[in-house]
Amino acid sequence: MLNQIKEHISEVEKFQANTAEAVEAFRIQYLGKKGVLNGLFSAFKDVPNDEKKEFGQTLNELKTKAQEKVEALKTALEEKEDQSGSGLDLTMSAEPMRMGSRHPLSIVKNEIVEIFARLGFTISEGPEIEDDWHNFSALNLPDEHPARDMQDTFFIQRDPDYLLRTHTSSVQVRFMEKNQAPIRTLSPGRVFRNEAISARAHCIFHQIEGLYVDENVSFADLKQTLLHFAQEFFGKETQIRLRPSYFPFTEPSAEVDISCNICKGKGCNICKYTGWVEILGCGMVDPNVLENCGIDAKKYTGFAFGMGVERITMLKYQIKDLRLFFENDVRFLDQFTSA
Ligand code: PHE
Repeated sequence: MLNQIKEHISEVEKFQANTAEAVEAFRIQYLGKKGVLNGLFSAFKDVPNDEKKEFGQTLNELKTKAQEKVEALKTALEEKEDQSGSGLDLTMSAEPMRMGSRHPLSIVKNEIVEIFARLGFTISEGPEIEDDWHNFSALNLPDEHPARDMQDTFFIQRDPDYLLRTHTSSVQVRFMEKNQAPIRTLSPGRVFRNEAISARAHCIFHQIEGLYVDENVSFADLKQTLLHFAQEFFGKETQIRLRPSYFPFTEPSAEVDISCNICKGKGCNICKYTGWVEILGCGMVDPNVLENCGIDAKKYTGFAFGMGVERITMLKYQIKDLRLFFENDVRFLDQFTSA
């Protein structure tokens, strides 16, 4: 019997296992209710008294060794699992991280701002909720002026009027009220008009308006500045043409077209086969506006222009539906990268 136990001891010492199941089977075989050890312990009572001591000691040795073996194998298996992370291969390269990208409107806005910054224009900003003076009256649009209808206004409150600004010309009024000439400022921002939402129009959109006031500023300066902008933004070969137009705050006023950057002037559906596409409105600041804002109109003249960022972005990237800018579909937004 003693020899049998010793054999068990050497078997326990030799035992190795790679799986949790094999360790558990081993534990049950030796330490389980009907296991080897319990069998031997129950045989203990039949052992002759003079052998009991040695038998007991050897049996206890077997029990300790079996318990230690189970613990050691379990620990080894757990360590192995930690390292491999239950199927996790630590040598594998990481999943690529998804990077965000700038919104196309921000990319284009930044590009436009940079072009004018090189000409010395700085940025000015103002509130989206405006009063009547800054959005209309100061800009030569007194009460009941029919041109107020050109801008379908969202009113927040009537009398006194508070409204969502319909253009960022309001920011330029605020700027002139606080600063004297010479002025070179650019006002990018969100504007609001009560228009039906379609592929070509939205009730929220973005504008960049520019204002230049100094002594002897002429229409030629305006034209040359806008030609420079068009060629920097759309490419050196771009041409511009000015068509007479009307804005209450500028006189004379013009609308500016660029030669179609898609068909290069040959005619396509973007330029409606005319070879030209409209990009902005502009003009010489009406002396009334300068005076309204505290600038001496006998000494100073100025030009102003305003463009829609959505429109310029659609032309640049040939986007056909303006609504895409506001839906924030990542599949659309992912396609644009800034330089
Ligand atoms: N404020 C005009 C608009 O929103 C654009 C403009 C700005 C026109 C400056 C002329 C001069 O339509």
